[in-house]
Amino acid sequence: MSYQVIARKYRPQRFSDVVGQEHVTQTLANAIKQKRTAHAYLFCGPRGTGKTTIARIFAKCLNCTDGPKVDFDEQDARCIEIADGRSLDVIEIDGASNRGIEEIRELRDTVKYAPAASKFKIYIIDEVHMLTKEAFNALLKTLEEPPAHVKFMFATTEPEKVLPTILSRCQRFDLRRIPTALISQHLAHIAKQEKVKIDEAALYAIARGADGAMRDAESALDQLAHQLLRRQNRGRRRALDVWPCGAGSDSGVVSRGSGRGSRNRVA
Ligand SMILES: Nc1ncnc2c1ncn2[C@@H]1O[C@H](COP(=O)(O)OP(=O)(O)OP(=O)(O)O)[C@@H](O)[C@H]1O
Ligand SMILES: [Mg+2]
Repeated sequence: MSYQVIARKYRPQRFSDVVGQEHVTQTLANAIKQKRTAHAYLFCGPRGTGKTTIARIFAKCLNCTDGPKVDFDEQDARCIEIADGRSLDVIEIDGASNRGIEEIRELRDTVKYAPAASKFKIYIIDEVHMLTKEAFNALLKTLEEPPAHVKFMFATTEPEKVLPTILSRCQRFDLRRIPTALISQHLAHIAKQEKVKIDEAALYAIARGADGAMRDAESALDQLAHQLLRRQNRGRRRALDVWPCGAGSDSGVVSRGSGRGSRNRVA
Protein backbone atom coordinates (compact mmCIF):
# COMPACT_ATOMS: atom_id res chain seq x y z
CA MET A 1 0.00 0.00 0.00
CA SER A 2 1.30 3.47 -0.84
CA TYR A 3 2.36 5.82 1.93
CA GLN A 4 -0.40 7.85 3.51
CA VAL A 5 0.35 10.99 5.47
CA ILE A 6 -0.49 10.83 9.18
CA ALA A 7 -3.33 13.37 8.90
CA ARG A 8 -5.13 11.12 6.41
CA LYS A 9 -4.24 7.81 7.99
CA TYR A 10 -5.54 8.94 11.38
CA ARG A 11 -8.72 10.69 10.24
CA PRO A 12 -11.30 9.77 12.91
CA GLN A 13 -13.78 7.21 11.64
CA ARG A 14 -16.48 7.56 14.31
CA PHE A 15 -17.66 10.29 16.68
CA SER A 16 -15.85 8.82 19.67
CA ASP A 17 -12.50 9.20 17.84
CA VAL A 18 -12.91 12.94 17.34
CA VAL A 19 -10.78 14.90 19.80
CA GLY A 20 -11.98 18.00 21.65
CA GLN A 21 -15.29 18.59 19.83
CA GLU A 22 -17.65 16.70 22.14
CA HIS A 23 -20.13 19.61 22.18
CA VAL A 24 -20.70 18.90 18.48
CA THR A 25 -20.39 15.12 18.29
CA GLN A 26 -22.56 14.58 21.35
CA THR A 27 -25.35 16.80 20.03
CA LEU A 28 -25.29 15.08 16.65
CA ALA A 29 -25.29 11.65 18.27
CA ASN A 30 -28.29 12.63 20.41
CA ALA A 31 -30.17 13.95 17.38
CA ILE A 32 -29.59 10.62 15.61
CA LYS A 33 -30.73 8.62 18.65
CA GLN A 34 -33.84 10.77 19.00
CA LYS A 35 -34.49 10.64 15.25
CA ARG A 36 -34.53 14.40 15.10
CA THR A 37 -32.05 15.26 12.41
CA ALA A 38 -32.34 18.54 10.53
CA HIS A 39 -31.98 18.89 6.78
CA ALA A 40 -29.10 21.38 6.76
CA TYR A 41 -26.02 21.73 8.95
CA LEU A 42 -23.19 24.22 9.00
CA PHE A 43 -19.86 23.32 10.57
CA CYS A 44 -17.71 26.35 11.30
CA GLY A 45 -14.29 26.69 12.86
CA PRO A 46 -10.57 27.08 12.33
CA ARG A 47 -8.75 24.92 9.77
CA GLY A 48 -7.86 21.35 10.68
CA THR A 49 -10.19 21.02 13.66
CA GLY A 50 -12.55 18.36 12.29
CA LYS A 51 -15.26 19.98 10.14
CA THR A 52 -14.98 17.70 7.11
CA THR A 53 -14.24 14.73 9.37
CA ILE A 54 -17.41 15.25 11.43
CA ALA A 55 -19.52 15.77 8.28
CA ARG A 56 -18.28 12.43 6.88
CA ILE A 57 -18.86 10.57 10.14
CA PHE A 58 -22.36 12.06 10.34
CA ALA A 59 -22.97 10.92 6.76
CA LYS A 60 -21.91 7.40 7.77
CA CYS A 61 -24.28 7.44 10.73
CA LEU A 62 -27.17 8.52 8.51
CA ASN A 63 -26.52 6.17 5.59
CA CYS A 64 -25.15 3.03 7.26
CA THR A 65 -27.00 -0.25 6.86
CA ASP A 66 -30.02 -0.30 9.24
CA GLY A 67 -29.30 3.34 10.09
CA PRO A 68 -29.46 6.06 11.06
CA LYS A 69 -27.35 4.96 14.01
CA VAL A 70 -24.24 6.15 15.79
CA ASP A 71 -22.65 2.77 16.44
CA PHE A 72 -22.37 1.64 12.83
CA ASP A 73 -20.24 -1.33 11.92
CA GLU A 74 -16.73 -0.31 10.78
CA GLN A 75 -16.90 -3.01 8.12
CA ASP A 76 -20.27 -1.91 6.79
CA ALA A 77 -19.78 -1.66 3.00
CA ARG A 78 -21.69 1.63 2.84
CA CYS A 79 -19.51 3.22 5.52
CA ILE A 80 -16.35 2.04 3.80
CA GLU A 81 -17.60 3.59 0.54
CA ILE A 82 -18.24 6.90 2.29
CA ALA A 83 -14.84 6.88 3.99
CA ASP A 84 -13.19 6.19 0.60
CA GLY A 85 -15.24 8.90 -1.12
CA ARG A 86 -16.91 6.32 -3.42
CA SER A 87 -20.51 6.52 -2.23
CA LEU A 88 -22.94 7.65 -4.94
CA ASP A 89 -25.20 9.10 -2.26
CA VAL A 90 -22.64 11.25 -0.46
CA ILE A 91 -21.64 14.01 -2.81
CA GLU A 92 -18.67 16.10 -1.74
CA ILE A 93 -18.38 19.44 -3.45
CA ASP A 94 -15.51 21.86 -3.13
CA GLY A 95 -17.15 25.27 -2.80
CA ALA A 96 -13.92 26.97 -3.84
CA SER A 97 -13.87 25.46 -7.34
CA ASN A 98 -17.65 25.10 -7.86
CA ARG A 99 -18.69 28.51 -6.73
CA GLY A 100 -20.88 29.75 -9.54
CA ILE A 101 -24.59 29.77 -10.18
CA GLU A 102 -24.30 27.13 -12.93
CA GLU A 103 -22.80 24.56 -10.57
CA ILE A 104 -25.45 25.23 -7.95
CA ARG A 105 -28.24 24.99 -10.54
CA GLU A 106 -26.86 21.61 -11.58
CA LEU A 107 -26.84 20.52 -7.94
CA ARG A 108 -30.40 21.76 -7.54
CA ASP A 109 -31.49 19.64 -10.50
CA THR A 110 -29.99 16.45 -9.05
CA VAL A 111 -31.47 16.98 -5.58
CA LYS A 112 -34.87 15.70 -6.65
CA TYR A 113 -33.61 12.24 -7.65
CA ALA A 114 -33.82 9.59 -4.97
CA PRO A 115 -30.62 8.20 -3.45
CA ALA A 116 -29.04 5.31 -5.37
CA ALA A 117 -28.67 2.83 -2.54
CA SER A 118 -28.96 4.58 0.82
CA LYS A 119 -31.50 6.32 2.95
CA PHE A 120 -30.29 9.85 2.23
CA LYS A 121 -28.64 11.81 -0.50
CA ILE A 122 -26.08 13.89 1.35
CA TYR A 123 -24.37 16.96 -0.09
CA ILE A 124 -21.21 18.01 1.74
CA ILE A 125 -20.11 21.44 0.53
CA ASP A 126 -16.68 22.40 1.80
CA GLU A 127 -15.47 26.01 1.86
CA VAL A 128 -19.08 27.05 1.39
CA HIS A 129 -18.21 30.72 2.01
CA MET A 130 -16.57 30.74 -1.43
CA LEU A 131 -19.92 30.45 -3.25
CA THR A 132 -20.94 33.58 -5.12
CA LYS A 133 -23.93 35.60 -3.96
CA GLU A 134 -25.92 34.36 -6.98
CA ALA A 135 -25.02 30.78 -6.14
CA PHE A 136 -26.16 31.24 -2.55
CA ASN A 137 -29.43 32.70 -3.77
CA ALA A 138 -29.95 29.80 -6.16
CA LEU A 139 -29.55 27.48 -3.19
CA LEU A 140 -32.05 29.21 -0.93
CA LYS A 141 -35.26 27.61 -2.11
CA THR A 142 -33.81 24.11 -2.09
CA LEU A 143 -32.38 24.70 1.34
CA GLU A 144 -35.70 25.90 2.68
CA GLU A 145 -37.64 22.81 1.68
CA PRO A 146 -35.44 20.05 0.35
CA PRO A 147 -36.97 16.64 -0.44
CA ALA A 148 -37.10 14.39 2.64
CA HIS A 149 -34.24 12.25 1.33
CA VAL A 150 -31.79 15.17 1.14
CA LYS A 151 -29.33 16.45 3.77
CA PHE A 152 -26.94 19.34 3.35
CA MET A 153 -23.72 19.67 5.33
CA PHE A 154 -21.72 22.83 4.84
CA ALA A 155 -18.25 23.51 6.20
CA THR A 156 -16.45 26.82 6.45
CA THR A 157 -13.62 28.60 8.20
CA GLU A 158 -15.34 31.93 7.52
CA PRO A 159 -18.99 31.83 8.59
CA GLU A 160 -19.21 35.63 8.49
CA LYS A 161 -19.01 35.38 4.68
CA VAL A 162 -22.04 33.09 4.45
CA LEU A 163 -25.27 34.96 3.68
CA PRO A 164 -27.55 35.39 6.72
CA THR A 165 -30.42 33.87 4.70
CA ILE A 166 -28.36 30.66 4.37
CA LEU A 167 -27.24 30.73 8.00
CA SER A 168 -30.81 30.98 9.23
CA ARG A 169 -31.75 27.81 7.34
CA CYS A 170 -29.02 25.68 8.91
CA GLN A 171 -28.24 24.20 12.28
CA ARG A 172 -24.90 25.75 13.10
CA PHE A 173 -22.06 24.09 15.00
CA ASP A 174 -18.94 25.97 15.97
CA LEU A 175 -15.86 23.81 16.32
CA ARG A 176 -13.21 24.98 18.77
CA ARG A 177 -9.47 25.13 18.60
CA ILE A 178 -8.35 21.88 20.23
CA PRO A 179 -6.55 22.34 23.59
CA THR A 180 -2.79 21.76 23.46
CA ALA A 181 -2.88 18.97 26.07
CA LEU A 182 -5.41 16.99 23.99
CA ILE A 183 -3.41 17.44 20.79
CA SER A 184 -0.26 16.36 22.58
CA GLN A 185 -1.95 13.21 23.94
CA HIS A 186 -3.27 12.38 20.48
CA LEU A 187 0.19 12.82 18.95
CA ALA A 188 1.64 10.48 21.60
CA HIS A 189 -0.95 7.87 20.61
CA ILE A 190 -0.06 8.24 16.91
CA ALA A 191 3.70 8.14 17.60
CA LYS A 192 3.20 4.90 19.51
CA GLN A 193 1.18 3.38 16.68
CA GLU A 194 3.85 4.46 14.19
CA LYS A 195 6.62 3.13 16.48
CA VAL A 196 8.42 6.47 16.47
CA LYS A 197 10.15 7.48 19.69
CA ILE A 198 9.62 11.15 20.48
CA ASP A 199 9.76 12.56 23.96
CA GLU A 200 6.81 14.22 25.59
CA ALA A 201 8.32 17.70 25.60
CA ALA A 202 8.79 17.58 21.81
CA LEU A 203 5.20 16.43 21.30
CA TYR A 204 3.97 19.19 23.55
CA ALA A 205 6.00 21.77 21.61
CA ILE A 206 4.49 20.56 18.34
CA ALA A 207 1.01 20.66 19.84
CA ARG A 208 1.50 24.20 21.09
CA GLY A 209 2.81 25.35 17.72
CA ALA A 210 -0.28 23.96 15.99
CA ASP A 211 -2.46 26.57 17.68
CA GLY A 212 -5.46 24.31 18.12
CA ALA A 213 -5.35 22.69 14.67
CA MET A 214 -4.93 18.92 14.78
CA ARG A 215 -4.04 18.67 11.10
CA ASP A 216 -1.15 21.12 11.53
CA ALA A 217 0.12 19.15 14.51
CA GLU A 218 -0.07 15.87 12.61
CA SER A 219 1.76 17.34 9.62
CA ALA A 220 4.55 18.56 11.90
CA LEU A 221 4.72 15.14 13.53
CA ASP A 222 4.96 13.53 10.08
CA GLN A 223 7.92 15.71 9.22
CA LEU A 224 9.68 15.08 12.49
CA ALA A 225 9.05 11.33 12.27
CA HIS A 226 10.68 11.28 8.82
CA GLN A 227 13.74 13.05 10.14
CA LEU A 228 14.00 10.74 13.13
CA LEU A 229 13.65 7.63 10.99
CA ARG A 230 16.27 8.95 8.56
CA ARG A 231 18.63 9.60 11.43
CA GLN A 232 17.92 6.14 12.81
CA ASN A 233 18.72 4.60 9.40
CA ARG A 234 21.86 6.68 9.12
CA GLY A 235 22.76 5.42 12.58
CA ARG A 236 22.28 1.88 11.39
CA ARG A 237 24.52 2.48 8.37
CA ARG A 238 27.18 3.97 10.61
CA ALA A 239 26.98 0.92 12.83
CA LEU A 240 27.64 -1.22 9.77
CA ASP A 241 30.66 0.96 8.90
CA VAL A 242 32.14 0.22 12.29
CA TRP A 243 31.38 -3.50 12.08
CA PRO A 244 31.17 -4.21 8.34
CA CYS A 245 29.19 -7.28 7.32
CA GLY A 246 31.31 -10.39 6.94
CA ALA A 247 33.97 -9.10 9.34
CA GLY A 248 33.42 -11.93 11.76
CA SER A 249 30.65 -13.83 13.43
CA ASP A 250 29.31 -10.72 15.21
CA SER A 251 28.64 -8.72 12.04
CA GLY A 252 25.28 -10.33 11.30
CA VAL A 253 24.10 -9.47 14.79
CA VAL A 254 24.90 -5.80 14.23
CA SER A 255 23.09 -5.47 10.91
CA ARG A 256 20.00 -7.25 12.15
CA GLY A 257 19.91 -5.64 15.56
CA SER A 258 18.89 -2.13 14.46
CA GLY A 259 19.11 -0.25 17.68
CA ARG A 260 18.59 -2.75 20.49
CA GLY A 261 21.89 -4.30 21.61
CA SER A 262 24.65 -2.15 23.13
CA ARG A 263 26.75 -2.49 19.95
CA ASN A 264 24.12 -0.78 17.89
CA ARG A 265 24.32 2.29 20.03
CA VAL A 266 27.67 3.16 18.43
CA ALA A 267 25.93 5.59 16.09
N1 LIG B 1 -10.99 16.99 16.27
C1 LIG B 1 -10.11 16.15 15.68
N2 LIG B 1 -9.80 14.97 16.26
C2 LIG B 1 -8.90 14.12 15.70
N3 LIG B 1 -8.28 14.39 14.51
C3 LIG B 1 -8.56 15.55 13.89
C4 LIG B 1 -9.50 16.48 14.43
N4 LIG B 1 -9.59 17.53 13.60
C5 LIG B 1 -8.76 17.29 12.59
N5 LIG B 1 -8.13 16.11 12.75
C6 LIG B 1 -7.09 15.58 11.86
O1 LIG B 1 -6.87 16.51 10.83
C7 LIG B 1 -7.27 16.00 9.56
C8 LIG B 1 -8.04 17.06 8.82
O2 LIG B 1 -9.28 17.30 9.48
P1 LIG B 1 -10.53 17.91 8.75
O3 LIG B 1 -10.41 17.67 7.27
O4 LIG B 1 -11.74 17.41 9.40
O5 LIG B 1 -10.31 19.46 9.05
P2 LIG B 1 -11.22 20.68 8.64
O6 LIG B 1 -11.72 21.31 9.90
O7 LIG B 1 -12.24 20.25 7.64
O8 LIG B 1 -10.13 21.65 7.99
P3 LIG B 1 -10.21 22.68 6.75
O9 LIG B 1 -10.84 23.95 7.28
O10 LIG B 1 -8.78 22.92 6.39
O11 LIG B 1 -11.01 22.04 5.66
C9 LIG B 1 -8.05 14.74 9.83
O12 LIG B 1 -7.85 13.79 8.82
C10 LIG B 1 -7.51 14.28 11.17
O13 LIG B 1 -6.35 13.50 10.97
MG1 LIG C 1 -12.41 20.57 5.56
